[in-house]
Parts: sequence; structure tokens; C-alpha cells
Amino acid sequence: MKLERSRNEYYSPVMNGIMNTLRFPTDFLWGAATAAYQIEGAWNEDGKGESIWDRFSHTPGNIINADTGDAACDHYHRYPEDISLMRQLGMKAYRFSISWPRVLPTGFGRVNTAGLDFYDRLVDALLAANIEPFITLHHWDIPQALLDRGGWINRDNLSYFADFAALMVKRLGDRVRRWATLNEPDDIAEAGYGNGEHAPGVKNDWKTVQQVIHNLLVAHGLAVQAIRAIDPALEVGIVLGLWGVDPTSEDPTDIAAADLVWNSQRIAFIHPIFRGHYHSSMIDAIGDNFPEVKSGDMALISQKLEFLGINNYSRTLVGGRGAISLVPGSEYTDMGWEVCAPAFRRMLNRINNDYNLPPIYITENGAAFPDVVTADGKIHDERRLDYLAQHITQVRLAMEDGVDVRGYFVWSLLDNFEWGHGYTKRFGLIRVDFDTQKRIIKDSGEWYSRVISLNSVDH
Ligand code: FCB
Repeated sequence: MKLERSRNEYYSPVMNGIMNTLRFPTDFLWGAATAAYQIEGAWNEDGKGESIWDRFSHTPGNIINADTGDAACDHYHRYPEDISLMRQLGMKAYRFSISWPRVLPTGFGRVNTAGLDFYDRLVDALLAANIEPFITLHHWDIPQALLDRGGWINRDNLSYFADFAALMVKRLGDRVRRWATLNEPDDIAEAGYGNGEHAPGVKNDWKTVQQVIHNLLVAHGLAVQAIRAIDPALEVGIVLGLWGVDPTSEDPTDIAAADLVWNSQRIAFIHPIFRGHYHSSMIDAIGDNFPEVKSGDMALISQKLEFLGINNYSRTLVGGRGAISLVPGSEYTDMGWEVCAPAFRRMLNRINNDYNLPPIYITENGAAFPDVVTADGKIHDERRLDYLAQHITQVRLAMEDGVDVRGYFVWSLLDNFEWGHGYTKRFGLIRVDFDTQKRIIKDSGEWYSRVISLNSVDH
């Protein structure tokens, strides 16, 4: 494979001249995604407990500009306006997450009814607008009270999570069909418990990080079991962050180096979930730091799922001499992530060949770019629009290759609190002015709305 990309990677032969190959199946689920801490605000209202992200962002030095999610997009109060914007854009689905401490302030035990009522209103308002709610149970904001007991290092946390899942499914399962357990558990383990860049911001040794990975997998399994026990007809899945790993050249040393990164790190979650055991390369790499695995764990982890959610933004380029962070000629987003849409299609094909997967939803894909409001009051965000067009095209090509993709969610509906980067990175289809909370649909939002109504991407 060459570093520079050929035209063929972008346009398959069938696409040339036959535009209808870019059409999507009629029931394709088009939407946008958000996460509770990144948009809700109302961090201490109506009985909500403190989350680890509240504590982390309130601790000086953790977030750029000392930003916090205290108010964020004020979605907790402005959800009716946000739903009417979604409706205006013609969205068919909306992926959002539940703030665990909003419904269980200390993680287990006492339920905060006002918190449950909020999600009830949200779901009802979405359904009234003909938008399917797609719920992620946990997107990184566990109750601080649970962290005080060790968080994901403590095995008790796993059953607390299953109880939280059961609580939500009992309340909303009559109206919400698709449930994802965890969002990007790899990130929780690595950034939360490894390098400390994300909440809880504790730096641990490698063995602890491996134990957190295993515990998150088991927590997922326990939640799947709890949801099934309530309603076996619901569709349950997990959302994994998966970026392809490409070799820097066709040299066997580079290919081997890239494969090692993929096998020993990148598939830490997908492999045990769909094969029932850890990959041998991962086991070799972990060595003495292998986590404690209890009997029955692997069966819990590898239960059948109705869907797999995939978050993808970029790729990693690895060779025998290590990873390359700046590829000559490549475009980079404001996050410093390379724009390389064909790698998305390659990665989807790779997992599709290697695993027996259920239907896939692209649960996040999008780009941060510094936006400008021009004199006409609009945001002409061509680079984001172009990024989305390229990636949606590659998803469609992967479908043509045989990958069963059922839906696509842009990250994100709104500009929002981008974790350690605070409000400095804008991913939204809709601009948010964080001083006034005014929303403006960007050009990319108008364009995406057309994609949805035509059910195809036009070039
Ligand atoms: C993903 C996260 C999401 C957002 C995007 C940019 O890894 O799931 O919350 O931060 O990155």
C-alpha cells in the first residue's frame, strides 16, 4: 500500500456513471450522536449526583481554559428546541447517553425520580417527532460515589452497572428498542485509568489497566444479561472505538508491526466479545500483567449481540520504526487526526472478514474544524461537509463489499464539551454559541439533511 492515495480508493468502478450505487437502503438509520456530560449541563439540578467528570473538570489544570460541563449546551432545559432542530434536519434517529448519577446519585440504591422523568420526557418528545431514540447506557460519567469505592477497578462496580441498566430498561424499554451498554470502553481504561487524561484521571500501572479492560467487558456482559431478563426482544449491543491500523509500506516488517498493534491493542474488546477469548498477541504482550479472569467471565463477555456500534474518526499508520504522526500530503482535523476515509472502508472489511458480526451501526463519525460565523450569519464549513461526504461514501462502498451497515450517526448533533479540550473543538452539525446558547445549523447540517431526504450522497 502506498502512502499517497489512488483515486480508486475513493471511487469504485461501479460508482463511475451509476449514481444509484450511492443510494442507501430505504430503512437506513440516519442520525446524530451526543453524550450526556458533553451536552446536558444542569450538573447539580433536580437531585443529580456528582459524576467523575464533574469532579475532574472542577479540579484545576485538567481541562483547557478551566472549562466544565456545568452548563454545556444546556440540553437538559433546551431539549425541546434541540429536538425540533433534529426534526428540521429530517433525522430518523438520535443517539444519546444516560447520566448515571442523574438517575442514581450515588451509583446504586436510591433512585432520583426527577432524573428518570427527564429521560422519559426526552424519549417521548423524540417519538412525537418521529425520531428513534438510540440509547447508550454509559458514556464515561460514572457517579463520583462509585469512584470513591474504586470505580471500574472494583468488581462490585460491574453489578451496579447491570442494576443501572435494568433500571433504565424497565423505565424506557417499552419505547426504546436499541440499547448500547458502553461507549468506547478502551478509552475509559486507557485515558481514564492509564494515562490520566480523562476522568477519573488516575494513572495506574499496566496490570490495573488490563484489569479495568476485563472488568468493563464483564460489566457489558452482565448488563446484556440484565436487559435480556427484562425483555428478550430488545436489541442490545456495545459501541467500540475502532480505527484501522495501516502499515507504512508493503514491506513485511512494516506489515508485521501494524498487525501487532492491531492484534495486541486495537482488538482488545472486539476479539473477546466475538471470539470468547483474548487474542494470543494480546496475551503475549500482557505477559505477567494478565488480569484476573473468573470462571464464567468469558461466556458473559461473548454473549450474542443484536448489533455492534462503531466509532471511527481516523486511522493509525504504523511501521517497523514506529507510528507516524504526520503523513505528508494528508489533511488533519482540529483534533490532529488524519483525514483518511478509505482506511474506514478497509477497517470495516477487516473486522467483517475476521469476525462473525451482527449488523453494524456507525455510532460516531465526524470532524472538528474551527468554524467561522460569516457576515451572512452562516457557517460555511466545507471541510466538515467534505469529511462527512468522503466517509459516508466509504461506508456505502463497504456495504457494497458485503459489510452489513444499518445506520450512521454523525458526531455530533451540537458543538459541545469535548472532554479535556473543553469548548475549543467544534464537531457539531449545529453551532452552539456558549455565551448565549444560540444554535445555528451549519452548511454541513443542511447538506446532511439533504443526504437523509435523498437517501444518497451526491458528488
Ligand atoms: C469519541 C467519543 C465522543 C467524542 C468524540 C470526538 O471518542 O466517544 O464522546 O469525544 O470522540
